[in-house]
Amino acid sequence: MRSIEVCFSPKLIHLHEVKGKLVVVVDIFRATSTMVAALAHGVTEILPFADLEACREMQKQEYLIAGERNGLTAPGFELGNSPLAFTNGKYAGRKLAMTTTNGTLAIEKSKGAAEILVGAFPNFQATANYIRSRNLDVVIHCAGWKGRFNLEDSLFAGALAQELADSHTNADDGALAMISLFSKEGPQLSSFLAQASHAKRLQNHGIEADIDFCLSSNLYTQVVGADKKGAMVVF
Ligand code: MLT
Repeated sequence: MRSIEVCFSPKLIHLHEVKGKLVVVVDIFRATSTMVAALAHGVTEILPFADLEACREMQKQEYLIAGERNGLTAPGFELGNSPLAFTNGKYAGRKLAMTTTNGTLAIEKSKGAAEILVGAFPNFQATANYIRSRNLDVVIHCAGWKGRFNLEDSLFAGALAQELADSHTNADDGALAMISLFSKEGPQLSSFLAQASHAKRLQNHGIEADIDFCLSSNLYTQVVGADKKGAMVVF
């Protein structure tokens, strides 16, 4: 059996050994959900940036740029971080440079892992099946919110740890705790997560449609992860 553990924030990832392990970065509302949607609808690669300016610079290299801070489109960017901006295939064939409040930072802080995937509900089963095939210990790295725990990423971690229970044993209390919470609240995930702080933040911005998309399971069979240069691509 392999092991699975949960890191609840990029502020805590230094407490987890990622070397030799498969890290699944999770930012359900909305960065990893958006990355999965964009790549499933024809974007060819996504370069994640923690820094706004560095991301903006990529426009000079013909990259489409997307920037979000605090749930809103960042100043000087046309695209924010909505998965629904990509689902009509408008950006098929394009390379995307992307920066978000938490998700792209979590990806950057996962460097050093044997493999980095991004996890989301829209490609949940494909991601779980791929992980089983890799036979590696797993760290689920929740993006959280500005260093703090959030419900949606942590519940995804519980769902994934529960799904992988036949091949991965819980290495820490976090995995056990989130399996327990997901087994209780998973059947009414949307209504439960309507209480989550970031769901309320997005509702206040009038983007409830994004929430519905981000909580939709198994829309896609694509598995998304980092290639050798750190770009997110379809595996
Ligand atoms: C994040 O980085 O935490 C999210 O992507 C923020 C958002 O898109 O609302």
